[in-house]
Amino acid sequence: MCGIIGYTGKKNCVPFLLDGLKRLEYRGYDSAGVFILQGGQIVTVRSVGKVAELEKMVLQTNPKGTTGLGHTRWATHGKPSEENSHPHTDCTGDLVVVHNGIIENYLSLREKLESRGHKFRSETDTEIIAHLLEENLLHVRASDDEDRLIKAIAKTNKALSGAYAYYVMWTRTPYLLAGTKVQNPLVVGIGKEENFLASDVPAFLQHTRKVLFVEDGEIVIIKSSSIRLFDKAGVEKSRKPVKIDWDQKKIEKGGFRHFMLKEIHDQPQALEDTLRTEREGFGKILNLDTTGLRKLHTVHIVACGTAYHAALIGKYYIEQLAGISTQVELASEYKYRALVPATNALAIAISQSGETADTLGAIQKAKEAGFGTLAICNVKGSSLTRLCDHVFYTHCGPEISVASTKAFTSQLVALYALALFLGQSNGNISRGFFEKSYKELLSLPKAMDEVLKLEYDVRHLTRKIYKEKQFIFLGRHVNYPIALEGALKVKEVSYKNAEGFAAGEIKHGPISIIEKGTPVFILMPEDRLFEKMVFACQECRARGAFVVAITTKAGAKQLKNIADKIITVPTTNELLQPVLDVVPLQILAYWIAKRLGCDIDHPRHLAKSVTVE
Ligand code: G6P
Repeated sequence: MCGIIGYTGKKNCVPFLLDGLKRLEYRGYDSAGVFILQGGQIVTVRSVGKVAELEKMVLQTNPKGTTGLGHTRWATHGKPSEENSHPHTDCTGDLVVVHNGIIENYLSLREKLESRGHKFRSETDTEIIAHLLEENLLHVRASDDEDRLIKAIAKTNKALSGAYAYYVMWTRTPYLLAGTKVQNPLVVGIGKEENFLASDVPAFLQHTRKVLFVEDGEIVIIKSSSIRLFDKAGVEKSRKPVKIDWDQKKIEKGGFRHFMLKEIHDQPQALEDTLRTEREGFGKILNLDTTGLRKLHTVHIVACGTAYHAALIGKYYIEQLAGISTQVELASEYKYRALVPATNALAIAISQSGETADTLGAIQKAKEAGFGTLAICNVKGSSLTRLCDHVFYTHCGPEISVASTKAFTSQLVALYALALFLGQSNGNISRGFFEKSYKELLSLPKAMDEVLKLEYDVRHLTRKIYKEKQFIFLGRHVNYPIALEGALKVKEVSYKNAEGFAAGEIKHGPISIIEKGTPVFILMPEDRLFEKMVFACQECRARGAFVVAITTKAGAKQLKNIADKIITVPTTNELLQPVLDVVPLQILAYWIAKRLGCDIDHPRHLAKSVTVE
């Protein structure tokens, strides 16, 4: 949903802006631009398409300056054209605004501004911010230009509704950048004689790990050697910066061609890092209110996309291990349904980014209905972590690829541990069972190493099937959400038609779409449902499908003449098996997309973090 980077310091800002934009490209890649204060003037270079296109144009014009902004856009209002690319200026051209999010009342504001003589050059909602600021700068009382800008931003914010973060550069204050946010991320990177504003930490991580998270309604001013923070009324306040423990290596491709493949291979480490802190993490969270937890009788889980699939599996975990009734709902749906006020109820929001607008809206609703709230999130200081009563962090490091992989398996591990802790504190499971299960959890990183060795085999398989027009995934119980996730992965990166079904349902309709040669991936570890899955195999094969069984060693032996291809994953306990089973499907999606020549890390129409409704 748009990526923004701002730099002010002693050096030429252009390389910082271009590098930051490349690292933020996962947030949008419809158009990009840089805007630099050069000799008291604002120089703009912008282009349609990806940052690489912008870079070519920058090389031709070679702008230089010590203060500047960069923007990569995911189009909401107005098509991805040059006029709609950021930045947007006021009528004088002395002030530029870049923006991430949506201004909901922009049409009425635009009408009013036009009637007062403002000339608009684009179709975007962003441009109204520039014109509003232009008016407010004239009308606020201030001691100097910096004070004027802060007051004008505070006044402008009062007129805006929606979720947004915007950044301002003004020729009258060429030594500073201003930023403000409501329900959209804005972080400050604190360097030595240089400071950054950005939509996400990776934009400046190679220059500093000292970060200040700006909160809703606040206004921040950065100069080369100072940072000032103001509340929504424009009153100065202070906040301690935090140190981010991500390192540079984690935001590089590390020899892999795409972030997606790198992040698939990051999974053993991601699980290990999450598990290392997990026991202490949940212990701390749950000890806060053990009596309350003993009484807990309802859990709701809300999430979007891949995180929603983790939530679906979380339901099996919590119901089976903790005996607590659990409902899972897409955050975008949850927000608009009648919610019965609850006591002794916990709402869990799962989100890699912690910035997904629908997830934030859903958890806010649960909070208002009396639920305690817990975030399972990967990004320190993100909006979700500030909204929830308790936070458990997954520690998988920055996930850059739009298609989520390592965040998903880390979320599963977190949910399993949560269910174990809940089950132990309410007496649903014995101490012995807890210890045994926890041991199984701890063995997952090693098993994950093993499952990654399947890459060669899966890659080879894709050579045969990548041109097929559709792909079907079947699973049951905890592997049903894995079927959904496998299909989502294929859709996201290869744009092929892919569907996931509960295996028991195929005979109620979906089987009709199978044609001769249709690849059907059947998740069937050797467990109590294995025999039922064998029927599904046979039913699909009888209709001409090319059946690929994803199974465990004991299952493989029995499937020799039943499946066309067998992929054998290591065995763990029934509930944890999906953590391993999903990996061949992630690899499959990657290699189908790779063979089709798709832009894997930047799939069309998608953005990593959806910060608008
Ligand atoms: C977007 C991404 C998905 C992601 C979903 C939820 O749609 O493209 O990959 O699963 O958002 O994101 P979150 O950050 O809340 O986990």
